[in-house]
Amino acid sequence: MWRTKVMVAMVIASSLALVLFYSSLNLEEVHRRKAFVEAANTVLVVPARRNATLHATLHATLQAMTTGHPQTTSRSPQQKEATGISILISTKFIQDVPKSSAYWNRRQHALLKLLESGSSGNATENKILGWPDCGTTSLERLVTNIQDFGTYPPLYQVFLQGMECRDPPILIDQPGKCTSDEWDGKTFLLLAIKSIPQNFERRQAVRKTWGREGRYEGGVVVRTIFLLGRSPPEDPDLGALVSFEALHYRDILQWDFRESFYNLTLKDNAFMSWAARSCPGVAFIFKGDDDVFANTPAILAFLHSLDPTKAAGLYTGHVVTNASPFRDAKSKYYVPVSFYEGAYPAYAGGGGFLFSGSLIRPLLTLSRFIPFFPIDDVYTAMCFKALGITPVAHSGFQTFDIREEDRQNACVHRALILVHQRSPQQMLRLWRDMHSPLLTC
Ligand SMILES: *[C@@H]1O[C@H](CO)[C@@H](O)[C@H](O)[C@H]1NC(C)=O
Ligand SMILES: *[C@@H]1O[C@H](CO)[C@@H](O)[C@H](O)[C@H]1NC(C)=O
Ligand SMILES: *[C@@H]1O[C@H](CO)[C@@H](O)[C@H](O)[C@H]1NC(C)=O
Repeated sequence: MWRTKVMVAMVIASSLALVLFYSSLNLEEVHRRKAFVEAANTVLVVPARRNATLHATLHATLQAMTTGHPQTTSRSPQQKEATGISILISTKFIQDVPKSSAYWNRRQHALLKLLESGSSGNATENKILGWPDCGTTSLERLVTNIQDFGTYPPLYQVFLQGMECRDPPILIDQPGKCTSDEWDGKTFLLLAIKSIPQNFERRQAVRKTWGREGRYEGGVVVRTIFLLGRSPPEDPDLGALVSFEALHYRDILQWDFRESFYNLTLKDNAFMSWAARSCPGVAFIFKGDDDVFANTPAILAFLHSLDPTKAAGLYTGHVVTNASPFRDAKSKYYVPVSFYEGAYPAYAGGGGFLFSGSLIRPLLTLSRFIPFFPIDDVYTAMCFKALGITPVAHSGFQTFDIREEDRQNACVHRALILVHQRSPQQMLRLWRDMHSPLLTC
């Protein structure tokens, strides 16, 4: 008899304990979220001594904050813009930046120190310079800091002078791109394609093939945007044509900066700012070149097959590991020893890669604390690494192209996600053949 009483008492006690436990968890959760919201205007730092577990928790919280919560999505765009920074940098990233006299390394360590000190930044020392008075101010600083600056290739010198410049003014915007009523649905996949004003024919081929906007299998909506700068002043002015094209297709973004290989990092950064502002709810982003052939149905099938926990931190493509800077001044990818020392993080080739839309905000925030690098896909990987994310290789991405004898083969292409590089004519033919009912593979 007394045994039953004890049992009943125990059951009641343990249920009470459980109820208390869960309600405290809930409280803690709410409290934590609140703390993050309140801290939104200060810099939050994960000092190097803390470990990855902590980082992962904070990371998840940050991600939750920057994605689906009603509190964050109901704010007006102005409020979003006004939101400050919450910074969480992975310890691995910090450890892997070699302490070196190279300029970039020194700049990076200075920024990390700034973060560790917990201050929100010394405006005189580390200001990200406003447009357009950036670019001219730093020449003296460069000559002082880089002994062999005079031996850098001219365009490299130009890159360095503009290295602190961000936020170029937008010339052609598409503010309603991701939210328009067309196909009435949220954007599932945004295809963000790097192009230049004179590449109209390529854009047209992309629009007619893998970049076609609309509702796809599974009911998901795909939208396309081309990312453009301005042609150099020496080139014929295509401004009027680009404006017309933008009005007609409503898929052009153009910023007021000069198109050049070394400005691709700037372009990428400008795109991320735009996406954070105008496309915050997008599930996935494909970022690539206008001369690749991407297989959009295969991309969608891959995205649908993802485990939701993996999807939130997705960063995949053709992954290049153990790469280091080219030290040959004639190479397109030349990086002087006095500019950068160290290996590159594993990166997904910039010809085309995929990532999760929920990472836009955290990446953009972190990028403020990572000096620009002249090679855009390496820079992107640096930002991902700072977030604690390494790219996952996917064999469907063939940014170095496939075997010569397979290049016309529609069957081979059906199984791929991306190949580099195809002419507009090849794109049209491949697409037609791949979707032909007569094709038997
Ligand atoms: C990480 O930190 C937590 C809390 O400080 C600690 O319990 C845990 O053992 C640490 N893990 C490692 C791998 O150092
Ligand atoms: C910022 O840096 C400058 C130059 O190094 C220094 O003179 C100034 O005292 C610093 N300001 C603060 C608030 O630390
Ligand atoms: C990048 O764009 C800016 C703004 O137009 C320009 O001043 C700079 O020269 C460009 N950089 C390169 C490397 O062309």
